Amino acid sequence: MQPLNRINSLNSTGKGSRMNISTGVTRSMTTPIHPDARTAAAAVKRSGAVWLAIAIGLFGASWQQPALAGARDQAKRIHDRLTGTPPSDALLSTMTGMVQSGDALGAARLAIDPNNTESRGFYSVTLKNFATPWTNRDRTVFAPLNDYTATVIGMVRDNVPFNTLLSADLLYTGNASGAPAYAVTNNNHYQYLEDNDADLRTALSSQNQSAVTGLPAAATAGVMTTRAAAQAFFIDGTNRAMFRYTLLNHLCNDLEQVQDTSRPPDRIRQDVSRSPGGDSRLFLNGCIGCHSGMDPLAQAFAYYDFDETQGRLVYTGGAVQQKYGINMDNFKPGYVTPDDHWNNYWRQGPNRALGFSSSLSGAGTGAKTLGQELANSEAFAQCQVQKAFRAVCLREPGNSADRNKVAQITSTFKSSNYSMREVFAEAAVYCMGD
Ligand code: HEC
Repeated sequence: MQPLNRINSLNSTGKGSRMNISTGVTRSMTTPIHPDARTAAAAVKRSGAVWLAIAIGLFGASWQQPALAGARDQAKRIHDRLTGTPPSDALLSTMTGMVQSGDALGAARLAIDPNNTESRGFYSVTLKNFATPWTNRDRTVFAPLNDYTATVIGMVRDNVPFNTLLSADLLYTGNASGAPAYAVTNNNHYQYLEDNDADLRTALSSQNQSAVTGLPAAATAGVMTTRAAAQAFFIDGTNRAMFRYTLLNHLCNDLEQVQDTSRPPDRIRQDVSRSPGGDSRLFLNGCIGCHSGMDPLAQAFAYYDFDETQGRLVYTGGAVQQKYGINMDNFKPGYVTPDDHWNNYWRQGPNRALGFSSSLSGAGTGAKTLGQELANSEAFAQCQVQKAFRAVCLREPGNSADRNKVAQITSTFKSSNYSMREVFAEAAVYCMGD
């Protein structure tokens, strides 16, 4: 999709997101010498008379050897990159055979198949490191498991269509014995799983978020309404942070990249001065670029807040949070938020390049429909693929072959019902080496 290239070339999310740090590749050259070749080489020393015949045999053997060694290295790399751990000999042989017979994708699928006990590292380490930076403002990987990361891991494991990430009434909790029950007011449940090194391949089970947290089902919005996301992005401020970080983490664009001063400013809230420092040009050339599009989108979160005293997400259906009315004197005629109705002004203008879905209307009420709007965009699909590419290739998609591969995986992702597991498998095959 051509227009997306504009967004990509501006994408800056690579910095600070060296995920998967614990899946560094351990390249070992322990591939045994092909037995036929060893015999043949010894025979060459023994008898010059049969040199020619042996040499032909040797040539034949050493001709096969790189194929096997190559396939083993590729299988091993696929496994290392996906799980962060070396495979057992038995699994490596199976995967090598699959790679040799042209089914590298099957080998990658096997490496992360949750029925395969050796896939544990993919769930407990690779995916945890993949998702953790999305759950805090520093975007650090060094944070304990929480309800956001556990939900991502569970969705990938169970092949839940990933385009429901920002809208589903879904939450994964642990079934490890001895763990304190899920609590809306603390992270102890997940901290226990982390401290006890729970096998996240098996320890997570799918729940209705509304049933676990008591949030009305219509007010659930996938990972955006998890406790971890609320604590990071609904805390204080004006709830614009939830929008900004969702855009950054899941559409791979920060607001600098989507600024558009040509959208109508009619929904910009009162707290944004129209003449900062007495200069209205600053508003027209600067503030408007983000706030004209962002404010009518972040309105979807009008009923959410994070209560620091209780340590929990609060939802006040029908009553706009006080934080939407702060600093109303900055510009009295500014927009006063009456409800949680949102509109996507960025469906017009340059941000059409984000590729919003033509089967959605671009407007709605509440976080759930906003989550659908965002997660069904081309930018969302491509962003997930870019992140998976980075996680298993240990680099940015750089040259045109990489970008073509990302485009191809993105289109498979969408046509395979948004299977994130498949995205990882395909990226690992692409980066399995020669
Ligand atoms: C590049 C995008 C962008 C531009 C340009 C921009 N803002 Fe913002 N603004 C944001 C984001 C994102 C937030 C939410 C920050 C947060 O809560 O983390 C925000 C928040 C605010 C807030 C709420 C208070 C706060 O700090 O959370 C005010 C007031 C505000 N902006 C005013 C302005 C004014 C005035 C200008 C122009 C001088 C401007 N903004 C330009 C993105 C932008």
